[in-house]
Amino acid sequence: MSDSESTSSEAKGKKRTLAPVLSKAPPLALVVFGASGDLATRKILPALSRLADQGVLDDGFTLIGVARTEWTDEEFRTHVTEATPDGGPRWEAVTERFKYVTGEYDHPDTFAQLKSHLDEADRIDGTGGNRIYYLATIPNVFGLVANALATHGCAQPATEDNFCRLVVEKPYGRDLQSALDLDKQVHTAFDESQVFRIDHYMGKETVQNVLALRFANAIFEPIWNRRYVEQVQITVAESLGVEHRGGFYETAGALRDIVQNHVMQVLALTLMESPTSTDADRVRDEKVKLLQAIAIPTPDEAVDRSVRGQYTAGTIGGEDVIGYRQEEDVSPDSQTETFLALRLSVNNWRWEGVPIHVRTGKRLPARVTEVVLQFRRAPFLLFDQRTSRELRPDALILRIQPDEGISLEFGAKVPGEKFHIRSVAMDFSYAEAFAGAEAAGGYERLLHDAMVGDATLFIRSDEVQQAWRIVDPYLQAWSEPGGALHPYAAGTWGPHLAEILVERSGNAWRNPEIDLELAGGRVTGLPQ
Ligand code: BG6
Repeated sequence: MSDSESTSSEAKGKKRTLAPVLSKAPPLALVVFGASGDLATRKILPALSRLADQGVLDDGFTLIGVARTEWTDEEFRTHVTEATPDGGPRWEAVTERFKYVTGEYDHPDTFAQLKSHLDEADRIDGTGGNRIYYLATIPNVFGLVANALATHGCAQPATEDNFCRLVVEKPYGRDLQSALDLDKQVHTAFDESQVFRIDHYMGKETVQNVLALRFANAIFEPIWNRRYVEQVQITVAESLGVEHRGGFYETAGALRDIVQNHVMQVLALTLMESPTSTDADRVRDEKVKLLQAIAIPTPDEAVDRSVRGQYTAGTIGGEDVIGYRQEEDVSPDSQTETFLALRLSVNNWRWEGVPIHVRTGKRLPARVTEVVLQFRRAPFLLFDQRTSRELRPDALILRIQPDEGISLEFGAKVPGEKFHIRSVAMDFSYAEAFAGAEAAGGYERLLHDAMVGDATLFIRSDEVQQAWRIVDPYLQAWSEPGGALHPYAAGTWGPHLAEILVERSGNAWRNPEIDLELAGGRVTGLPQ
C-alpha cells in the first residue's frame, strides 16, 4: 500500500496499527529510591507495568524499592499491585521477585541490605550486574544518596559488559550554585556519562516532534529565523492549582518548577541550530549553544521583563476554586509566584531582535502547552483594511498538549463578492494521522531510554547549569524591593501586566480559544 493510499484509508476511519515503538531492554536491576512516594506510585510503577506488558522488559529484570516507609517485601508488592491496576500477566509475573529495603537514605544498613539484594538479583534473577539507580526522593537527598551509593560500593564505573546509571528527577538544584554543588557530589560517585537527568517534557511525543518538524522537512527552515518570524511565544498553562503539593511549591514557584526546566527545554529544541546527527551529545551540544545565546538579564532588566502573579479565588470550568494562599501548606502571606511571564531574547544571527515571550501559570483557564511562531505581516496589504480586520498575523502553532498537533494559520478570502479576508487554520492532528498507534507515555519512553543507555532526551549537566544562569537573576531581582507579585483571579490568563509586557513589543498573547462547557476544558478551534 502506498503512503497516499494509507492516508486515505485513515481518512476513512480505518485504524492502522504501527509497529511497537520500543526495543527490548537488557537485563538489569532497577533500584527506586523513594519507592513508596507519589512519583513512584503515580508515574514510575505504571510506566514499568506498561513496559512489561509490551514485552520490553527482559526476563532478567527486577526492581528493588528503597524508602523510609516501613514495609516488608510483601507489603511493597501489594503496593505495586494497587498502583498498577491495569498490569497484565507479564507484569504480575515479574512483580513476584520485587524486593524492598526500609531505611534512611544515608544509613549504612540501608546500603548493606541493598547490596545483598543486588548480589542475589544477579545470582537468581539474572540481572547480569547491570544497575539503574532512580532517585525519586525529595530533592535535598539526591546528593546524599549518590554519595552513599559510592561509599557503600554500589556505584561502579561502566565497563564493556556492565552498566551502572543514575537517573535523577527534577528539580536539579534550586539555583546555579546548588546545581553546581549537586553536580560535584554526583560526579564523585558517577561519571557524567552515567547520569540521566529527567525532564518529563522531553518524553512527550510532541516535544520530540519539534525535531522531526524542523529537521525532517526542508520547507520550514528558510522561514525559521528573524527575517520571517516576528515573535515566538511559549505557553505552559495549567488549570489545576497546587493540589497537595503546597509545601513543595512554596519552596519552588513557577520559575523553578516550570521555566528553568520544561520551558527552557522546549525553547532550546524550537530555536537551536540543526545537530549534525541524532547522537545524544550532538543534540545536547546544540541545545546548550542555544541556551548560551539567551541573554542573561541585569537585575533591572529582570524586573522590567518579567511579570509575577499569584492566583486568588475564582472560577474554572464553572467551579469555584480557592486562592493560592488558602491552599494546604501554603503561608497566608506567601510571596511565591504561581504565574510568570518573561520576555527573553536570543543573541545570535538567527534570532537577534525577535522577542521570545514565555508564560506559565497554575489555575489558568485550561491545561494547554503550545509554541507559537508568529510571522511578520505582508509588507503591503493590498486589500482594504476594513475588510481584513479579522486577519491576524500568520502563525505556526505547535500544540504540545492537549489536542496534540500542528496548525498553520493564514488569511483566506471569505466567500462572497467583496475581498473580505479572515484567518483560518490548516490542522494536523496526531490523533487522526496516527489513529491506532499507541505512543509510549513520557515516563515509559524515558525509563526505556535509560535502560538502553540512550541519553538524547536526558538533560546534560551543562544544560542544567546554563538554564540556572538564565533564571538566577530573576530570583535575585525578585528578592529585592520592587520584585512585585500581582494577584490574578483563578480562571483568567494571569495579571493584566502580562498583556502589557507583550504589547510593549507591539504584539499580543495568542490565547487558545476555550469552550469549557462544550469541551470539558479542552482547547477547541482558533485562538482569538
Ligand atoms: C511538573 C511540575 O514538573 O510538571 C508540576 O512540578 C506541573 O507543577 C507538571 O503540574 C506539569 O506537567 P504536564 O505534563 O501535566 O504538563
